[in-house]
Amino acid sequence: MKKITFIGAGNMAQSLISGLFKDETSVAICVADPIDAQLEMIRSNWPDVITSCNNLQAIKNADAIILAVKPQLMQQVCESLQDAVQQLQPLVISIAAGITEANLSTWLGGGLGVPVVRCMPNTPALVQAGITGLYANELVAEEQRNLAESILRAVGSTIWFDEEEKLDAVTAVSGSGPAYYFLVMEAMQMAAEKLGLSQSDAQLLVSQTAFGAAKLALESPDTPAELRQKVTSKGGTTEAAIQELMQGGLVELFDTAMSAAAKRSEELSK
Ligand SMILES: NC(=O)c1ccc[n+]([C@@H]2O[C@H](COP(=O)([O-])OP(=O)(O)OC[C@H]3O[C@@H](n4cnc5c(N)ncnc54)[C@H](OP(=O)(O)O)[C@@H]3O)[C@@H](O)[C@H]2O)c1
Repeated sequence: MKKITFIGAGNMAQSLISGLFKDETSVAICVADPIDAQLEMIRSNWPDVITSCNNLQAIKNADAIILAVKPQLMQQVCESLQDAVQQLQPLVISIAAGITEANLSTWLGGGLGVPVVRCMPNTPALVQAGITGLYANELVAEEQRNLAESILRAVGSTIWFDEEEKLDAVTAVSGSGPAYYFLVMEAMQMAAEKLGLSQSDAQLLVSQTAFGAAKLALESPDTPAELRQKVTSKGGTTEAAIQELMQGGLVELFDTAMSAAAKRSEELSK
């Protein structure tokens, strides 16, 4: 059985652990965090998980280490694990936004290098409905790639990329994407209330419509454009709304907005 160790017991680590238990993936899980209250929460939810306040102790014999701390702490955490990682050569998986494989490898001691998988998950991972973009450096073996994929698949879908730069586009699409949908939902809810619906009715109608549209888009062989055309009959209500959205420049706005997000991701990685 593979042993995987989480460094950091926050939101993302907990959603991955929850997903791994639901998935019944057979791995031994260890979690390290400086705050015992955080570890206590892990122990009470998942009694089989081994916990430790000591990162170095927690990574002993680990096949994979998942770095699940905030990006601003990553350098300090990697450097403190440097000697042990160089000696043990486990697979290192980072879920931190904007931290490059080159930075991780340097902070982990450089030398001949360490197998590193860099991931870009998104917040729906918290409800096991995320999507993660993954990139592996050349030291990652096939079996380690499969292990990284099975861990991230516990909280949603996964897509591999051969070029790390693609993760900037992934950040602009799925990393920041939930916020775009929340904004659209927010705007729809405000408009629904202006049309006379109560706040709670508007919220339920909007959220379930978003969920239903996403489910349909995922399950249907049609493209989103085809699905839209199918529900937009000539002279109908949907067409009246779509015309307003198009004339208001919605498509161009998304193009500009997502280019700005990708550019910012590129800048932050540097
Ligand atoms: N949340 C998301 O949806 C999401 C999506 C995509 C990517 N990510 C990435 O996932 C990573 C984790 O995010 P999160 O939301 O799970 O953050 P979080 O809830 O703040 O969890 C981080 C945990 O690490 C602990 N920690 C701090 N220093 C540590 C150390 N030296 N050794 C071990 N543990 C330490 C923190 O303890 P304290 O609370 O005491 O600091 C906290 O419990 C981030 O890098 C983020 O960029 C998150």
